[in-house]
Amino acid sequence: MHLEFDILTLFPEMVEGFLTSSMIGRGQRNGLIRAEAHQLRDWATDKHHKTDEMPFGGGAGMVMKPEPIFAAVEQLRKPASKVIYMAPDGEPLTSQLARELVQEEHLIILSGHYEGVDQRVRDHLIDREVSIGDYVLTNGTLAAAVLIDCVSRFIPGFLGDEKSLTEESFMTTLLGFPQYTRPADYRGMCVPEVLLSGDHGAIAKWRREQQIEKTRQLRPDILDNREFQ
Ligand code: ADE
Repeated sequence: MHLEFDILTLFPEMVEGFLTSSMIGRGQRNGLIRAEAHQLRDWATDKHHKTDEMPFGGGAGMVMKPEPIFAAVEQLRKPASKVIYMAPDGEPLTSQLARELVQEEHLIILSGHYEGVDQRVRDHLIDREVSIGDYVLTNGTLAAAVLIDCVSRFIPGFLGDEKSLTEESFMTTLLGFPQYTRPADYRGMCVPEVLLSGDHGAIAKWRREQQIEKTRQLRPDILDNREFQ
């Protein structure tokens, strides 16, 4: 599988390190993904490369103009492309949505700035609007990076260890269990005995209990309508 991402943003430098580092960088070098950030201003044809204007009807802030966005998408899009707009009022990003998006071939991700984009962009150019949480960022560029990171993990072979995903499908229903590594005793803070016991059944049972307890405390909503022993 090969998944392509093109980010349209006024701040491509915000994600340049992200796109070449760690797993995303490795995924690009392995040919599993291609991910680039483009300067939206490059598609503004006026002398000052203007990408925003005052809103019709008045009000605070600036609105991103439609022309550079349409021009950029029209140049980058292929027959199978999907266009995503990162916005705090979009549908929430979840593992379920990431699993849907990983089926696509090419995602063009528009990162908004100012008070948002002209509604005609949202009505006529965008296929899906996605939020990474109930808070407002100064612009959507980091949100686009989060989406790329989260979707790429579902590409077969991307993690290099398919077990991580299998374990995760369990972890998306419950929160994670505590992990420990060496040393077993660090300044008197000791690793739970059971993890040193070599008893795999007892370890699995302990981890599940920890998951249920943590979920009960922090995310009781996940346990609603579910039965765990
Ligand atoms: N742009 C600004 N805030 C955002 C959010 N929470 N999710 C996605 N895009 C955004």
